[in-house]
Amino acid sequence: MKRVYNFSPGPSTLPLPVLEKAQKELLNYEGTGMSTMEMSHRSKTFQDIVDSAKELLIELMGIPKNYKVLFLQGGATTQFSMVPLNLFNKNKKADYAITGNFAKKAAQEAQRYGEVNVVASSKDKDFSYIPDVDSMKASPDADYFHITTNNTIYGTRYTKLPDTGDVPLVADMSSNILSEVYDVSKFGLIYAGAQKNIAPSGVTIVIIREDLVGKAMDITPVMLDYKVHVDNNSLYNTPTTFSIYMAKLVFEWLKDLGGVPAIEKINIEKAKILYNCIDNSSLYKGTANPKDRSIMNVTFTLPSEELTAKFIKEAEQNGLVSLKGHRSVGGIRASIYNAMPIEGVKALVDFMKKFELENK
Ligand SMILES: Cc1ncc(COP(=O)(O)O)c(C=O)c1O
Repeated sequence: MKRVYNFSPGPSTLPLPVLEKAQKELLNYEGTGMSTMEMSHRSKTFQDIVDSAKELLIELMGIPKNYKVLFLQGGATTQFSMVPLNLFNKNKKADYAITGNFAKKAAQEAQRYGEVNVVASSKDKDFSYIPDVDSMKASPDADYFHITTNNTIYGTRYTKLPDTGDVPLVADMSSNILSEVYDVSKFGLIYAGAQKNIAPSGVTIVIIREDLVGKAMDITPVMLDYKVHVDNNSLYNTPTTFSIYMAKLVFEWLKDLGGVPAIEKINIEKAKILYNCIDNSSLYKGTANPKDRSIMNVTFTLPSEELTAKFIKEAEQNGLVSLKGHRSVGGIRASIYNAMPIEGVKALVDFMKKFELENK
């Protein structure tokens, strides 16, 4: 069976060796006679899976000792509510930088529980850039400052983090966690839906500094209280067992590859190949401000909708799938997460060059 190069923004391609290992272990995980999908989450075997997934993530991201790692449910979208419910603990005020649709949704949700101060927005230019980080002034009395490190729909990312002083920096890292080296100690909280760089959909990663745990608002539902999940080591209720197991396999794969510094180098190389093609073309036009370009989601347009549709159709016929831009912006988006091999990017570029010659 031939596999395609899948440029889907999420759920997205997983590393082939990980899928093969999961396939091998599917019917009988480590001699238990069952798959990880069938296993009690209270069993010692599953406990070991959660523990090693956690340890591996701590190692890969260099997570300091005063942080907790959680495997939750509800996607990044649930974090849009969980963050304010837990972190509005002093002045019920937060700063938000609006760099895309997801950042906007996060801010809207926080507004239900407290005061939201929009410190910057790139809406004026269709979210094609990251507002000047140096001018993003954190309110000294805010409970936290929220950013989206990589904007999946618009293909932008922060190359420099805003300086928020003593105000905890909270990051939605859904579409670039583990793609480049981050100093976790700069953040109060990081969250990410797993379905791009980590695992199948289902599990949501939260990395939270200890001092931010245990101060949830009284109205916080039990499932949305970080302390409940910290106290129960992510096993308060039935977790997404299979996704957590897959995350562990992906973490092992990444560690074997040389960890985050190694994948960052590959990611930069992959993105360079694709952006070079766009910049040297008269048919394709990059949509993101060059200095803020994402190395995970590469967005570009063609001169007409007809040509865009033709591009997508012919790419598909060449085994290059899910290149359609987000429904709100159109155009093309190639998501080249960690698991996309460099060969996939080269195949896409070869196709793009050929398509350009044929459609001049
Ligand atoms: C940056 C970002 N934040 C949030 C979300 C929403 O995540 P979920 O579907 O896991 O709720 C997405 C989904 O693509 C995303 O890319």
